[in-house]
Amino acid sequence: MRRLLRTILIAQKVELRSPIGIIPSSISLYSTDSAEASEAEAPKPTTQSVGSWSTYVNVYDRPVAQQPEPSAQAKPSDEDEDEDEDEDKNPSSSRRGLSFTATRRKGKVKTQWVCQHCGYTAGQWWGACPACKVAGTMIQNNDTTAADKHRGGLVVAEDAVGTWLPQRSPELRPLKLVEVNRGFDLEKWRIPLFGSLGNEISTLLGGGLVPGSLTLVGGDPGIGKSTLLLQIAAMIAKECSDGGAPPVVYVSGEESLQQIGTRADRLGIQSNIYLYSSTDIEDLLMKTHRLSPRALVVDSIQTVYLKTVVGSAGAVTQVRECTAALMRFAKTTNISVFLIGHVTKSGDIAGPRVLEHMVDVVLYMEGEKYSPYRMLRAVKNRFGSTDELAVLEMSQSGLQTVSNASEMFLTQHHSDSNVLTGLAIAVIMDGTRTFLIEIQALCFSKCSVSSSVYNGIEANKANMIKCVLMKQAGLLLQENAMFLNVVSGLTMTETAGDLAIAAAICSSFLEFPIPEGTAFIGEIGLGGELRMVPRIDKRINTLAKLGYRMCVVPKQAEKLLGTEGLEKLKVVYCNDLKEVINAVFRRDNRC
Ligand code: TYD
Ligand code: MG
Repeated sequence: MRRLLRTILIAQKVELRSPIGIIPSSISLYSTDSAEASEAEAPKPTTQSVGSWSTYVNVYDRPVAQQPEPSAQAKPSDEDEDEDEDEDKNPSSSRRGLSFTATRRKGKVKTQWVCQHCGYTAGQWWGACPACKVAGTMIQNNDTTAADKHRGGLVVAEDAVGTWLPQRSPELRPLKLVEVNRGFDLEKWRIPLFGSLGNEISTLLGGGLVPGSLTLVGGDPGIGKSTLLLQIAAMIAKECSDGGAPPVVYVSGEESLQQIGTRADRLGIQSNIYLYSSTDIEDLLMKTHRLSPRALVVDSIQTVYLKTVVGSAGAVTQVRECTAALMRFAKTTNISVFLIGHVTKSGDIAGPRVLEHMVDVVLYMEGEKYSPYRMLRAVKNRFGSTDELAVLEMSQSGLQTVSNASEMFLTQHHSDSNVLTGLAIAVIMDGTRTFLIEIQALCFSKCSVSSSVYNGIEANKANMIKCVLMKQAGLLLQENAMFLNVVSGLTMTETAGDLAIAAAICSSFLEFPIPEGTAFIGEIGLGGELRMVPRIDKRINTLAKLGYRMCVVPKQAEKLLGTEGLEKLKVVYCNDLKEVINAVFRRDNRC
């Protein structure tokens, strides 16, 4: 009885799953002109055991059998062949055929979303890029075909520059370090840059320009990148002019040859620079290679493109591939390449991570909009330190060095001026450079404006110093409106400036001008104690060189400092703020 019931149940199940009800819709999906032929070729499910899965599968497999002759089709991949084999051996495995593998694999266009900010690639759209978190930067890129999928960046770059470049000798082998360094003159290896501007750039690069290096120069539009690179090109050309070979090729995709020529005239450049206007990277590399120069300048990476790469110039993929092509060009030909890159609104070079990772040196040019000063900073340097900073000034005849960079942010005051009340000098460091910065404070009692205003100083830091002065030094600042300002529009982030902020507040509150030629170095703790800061010796030596007369520093610095060169500078060592007030705001110090 039980067996009978089971048979009935199975029979019902089979009937429910019978292909007869499914076939019409399936066939309609695959309906072709050769319906008759397909019927002839198709297995006859009804004549077979309808209860078996293989019968269903055969029904679904039928469209695959209806495909045109194999010879007329593209050769299937290994993977496809394997699958076919599997199907033959084990028909049940072809259940995967339910997702219609025949059509899935062929002619598929892979859709990708590429972040235009950082180059991150995803298989789906994101409102904000998962890598750099910037919103609205994911752009769809449909054009990456299956064939292109296997063409990595380096392959494309090789295609672009590989056909005519000198090929690697098959005899090349790994060498011992001593073999590499034998007969190698490190001093003559680098290309020196002469003149005061040349010295500044040379120091920044780690002691001259390295042959075959790729240097990226980034900065805001209009800050002076093209001007700087034209001046560098002129310096290299001057250095190499005796050899007869064309020393530098300057390629611009942004300006016409006449525009570059006019600029060169304005800068007084008479060196033998070759100018070329092109945006096709293959073309410009080919033309440059024929000239065999010492250096190549490409202005800018956002304007050049590779024909083999999808996307317009400036897109992340183009920027990446063009940089890869230039890198390979530099390494293979030993020609130094300078690359100009514009920064995005957030202050990064377009595709920043990709580019910074690929190039040897990254220099950033910074500067305030209305200030003539420009800072050229080494953010990455494979051939030197990243601590270096070049301070330049934009003049009528291009960029020039600043004679006394340490004092460039100071204003000149007359010693009898009232303005000295509430003014203190801080000594801060940027890389290996020392800068003197003016801090101004204005404490005003009975003021209708009760709030505090801070420019260039973090509010938390200023409030902390104010409270420490009240609690630990007994200053009654609570009924005063307080204004703090760092001159020249600078922002002070270094803790070494804490003591100067406190001194400026004391000076204004006590209406006691700080003696001229006095500077303050030190961090302030919550107990009012003075704490040490890095490179205090370098800061004090700068003050001594500039003719300062007094410098207030933390007591711990006493052990580190010698007396050499400090004969004219009185160094006052203090433990806390009370000692500072007693040492500086004394009657005999009053002007
Ligand atoms: P430029 O080098 O074109 O900037 P970038 O390449 O970064 O976009 O510099 C343009 C600015 O520099 C422009 O505002 C004019 C100024 N400038 C001078 O002040 N003096 C000069 O001798 C030169 C060539 C430019
Ligand atoms: Mg420019």
